[in-house]
Amino acid sequence: MDLENKIVAEVMQLVKDKLNGEGTGHDWFHIERVYNNALQIQRQEGGNLFIVELAALLHDISDHKFNGGDFEKGGEVAKEILSRYGVTEDIQEAVADIINKVSFKGSDVKDEMSILEGMIVQDADRIDALGAIGIARAFAYGGAKQREIYNPDIPPQKHKTKEEYARGESHTINHFYEKLLLLEERMHTSYGKKLARERTIFMKQFLEQFYEEWKGTR
Ligand code: ADP
Ligand code: NI
Repeated sequence: MDLENKIVAEVMQLVKDKLNGEGTGHDWFHIERVYNNALQIQRQEGGNLFIVELAALLHDISDHKFNGGDFEKGGEVAKEILSRYGVTEDIQEAVADIINKVSFKGSDVKDEMSILEGMIVQDADRIDALGAIGIARAFAYGGAKQREIYNPDIPPQKHKTKEEYARGESHTINHFYEKLLLLEERMHTSYGKKLARERTIFMKQFLEQFYEEWKGTR
């Protein structure tokens, strides 16, 4: 096993130990799916495999949603971990930059990802926010934040800044309009676009059925 593979295996174990059993949809299996999606996309799109692997594994290591709202902390924590394994500063910086930019930051906030490896990891992460898995994760997150599943009196909102988006306290059905249904348009890679298209159709069907059941008409 060469050195890079050894580092990836060790970082994988560290992330597994930390996120095992996490209950908001950011558990180890989310990371594993994102990692596998990222590998699949990298095979098609190219880019530095080592950076893609490390960024996928560490992308939720200290997310702003769980660390008290710090948007830069994830990158810092990742750098600290990677420095322990002797990863070069260039690679540390690239991984940290991806992690700090990967998150969705509001319907009216532009994505800032500029390097190919980051686009790959962002698509890989977003695929896992969509479809049946995406629906399950959204309700797990909403429950963990004590939110209602739906409240017809509260309409979806547009968010112009990441702070506004992070402060948002809506019910989970609104998360579809404030994020999930918008992701298809924002995918970077052809693999990401294809999966997003299929999974978005499924989520729209889910919403249709949900409203019918809510009204008692189906
Ligand atoms: P991102 O970094 O883009 O936020 P994550 O991997 O952290 O991506 O996962 C985000 C997922 O967390 C969402 O796709 C959704 O499943 C869940 N989530 C985040 N915010 C909310 C919310 N307000 N309501 C319901 N689910 C949410
Ligand atoms: Ni994630």
